[in-house]
Amino acid sequence: MSNLHDLLALNTLPITEIYVDELRKLLKSGIPATYTLEQAASHEAGRDEDEDTGSNTTPLHILVRSLPSKLSEDETKVVLQMMDVLFEYGAGWNFLDYQNKSPGDVLWEKGFRTGNPLYERIVEAGVSAELLLRRLDENIEFLSEDDEPVDEEESDAGETIDAQITQAQDVEEAPRDTAEHQDEYLKAKLEYTDNSLVTQENRDGVMMDWETDIMRLARDSLFKYAGKEPVVLNIGFGMGIIDTLIQEQSPYKHYICEAHPDVLARMREDGWFERDNVVVLEGRWQDTLSALLDEGTVFFDAIYYDTFSEHYSDMLELYDNVVGLLKPEGVFSFFNGLGADRRVCYDVYRRIVDVDVRNYGMKCHFTAIPLPEKPDWENVRRSYFSCDTYFHPEIRFA
Ligand SMILES: C[S@@+](CC[C@H](N)C(=O)[O-])C[C@H]1O[C@@H](n2cnc3c(N)ncnc32)[C@H](O)[C@@H]1O
Repeated sequence: MSNLHDLLALNTLPITEIYVDELRKLLKSGIPATYTLEQAASHEAGRDEDEDTGSNTTPLHILVRSLPSKLSEDETKVVLQMMDVLFEYGAGWNFLDYQNKSPGDVLWEKGFRTGNPLYERIVEAGVSAELLLRRLDENIEFLSEDDEPVDEEESDAGETIDAQITQAQDVEEAPRDTAEHQDEYLKAKLEYTDNSLVTQENRDGVMMDWETDIMRLARDSLFKYAGKEPVVLNIGFGMGIIDTLIQEQSPYKHYICEAHPDVLARMREDGWFERDNVVVLEGRWQDTLSALLDEGTVFFDAIYYDTFSEHYSDMLELYDNVVGLLKPEGVFSFFNGLGADRRVCYDVYRRIVDVDVRNYGMKCHFTAIPLPEKPDWENVRRSYFSCDTYFHPEIRFA
């Protein structure tokens, strides 16, 4: 253990400003704010400090793990200052420790949750880091050895926080994962089971019927602000759950955008193409919506977005389409699984969505829905939602 780790074990209570001064001194002396327990152990054993041990138990982890279960107001202020100092010296908010936990996960488990200044400080650090990385991504041109620009998605130099966490969990995964790469997904064979839609070969859960209540809630939002003759757009048909619910409200026009040939075949079989008030936009929304925008003849009371194998960068692109296609009083909503494999990431993304839509003069209101029962992930490759609260978004022009 290094002096830094020793200090952050908080062996002397109460926690006073002396800790802040000592911490600053150690970091100033050159110990990195990211110096992990694993690196210290390798150093002690005479091994390469940079060897990959599969986990990164950082000083911030040690600090939050060492916190007593109750802190006075003064102690909370001191710990906040210590966190500020660590972040100032480059601590990361999202490294995963020997128990596969980020500092935010540890705080949450210890009962320091939403509204607690320490937990909120981690969320804030996550939001800043994500927005900063995005800026860097925009400005750096990645060059390969032969000076050809490299596809940013293929480079790990500027990846988002979410991608880093996901990678840490899934290091053994094949590089062309259907859940990660949309071109692979669109080529993969799909299978409808009794309660899900999955990729046939690797059993990725594209859609599962545990989401039905969430879809009902979303459907209700879509009609909440609509005029007398609602025109709605749903992006991503999947199992047709939300589209069936939308049809119950007899919309004037119901656009459905769907890209996968197997899903389109199912829609054809089930008569969706023949319904009077349904317009099927065949293909990726990236192509079909820009055509609608160019025509400039259709505007929506409500737009819902729930696709597969897309990333937050796709949503950023979608916002441009949404603002052009939504009526001024309309509403945009989406299946909110952003960062939902960890509560702290889920909270970071909630804030990021709000920051991003504000750039378009919109506001996002989230409704918290408890999910007391864990979905059954037995027949799919991996879970895509691990939180016990769902945050349903409603985005409207402010
Ligand atoms: C999670 S499912 C949608 C589930 C749907 N909300 C329901 O209630 O059943 C995702 C759907 O989006 C489709 N999809 C994925 N990427 C798309 C894209 N870029 N454009 C249009 N559809 C896409 C998938 O083929 C799949 O049918």
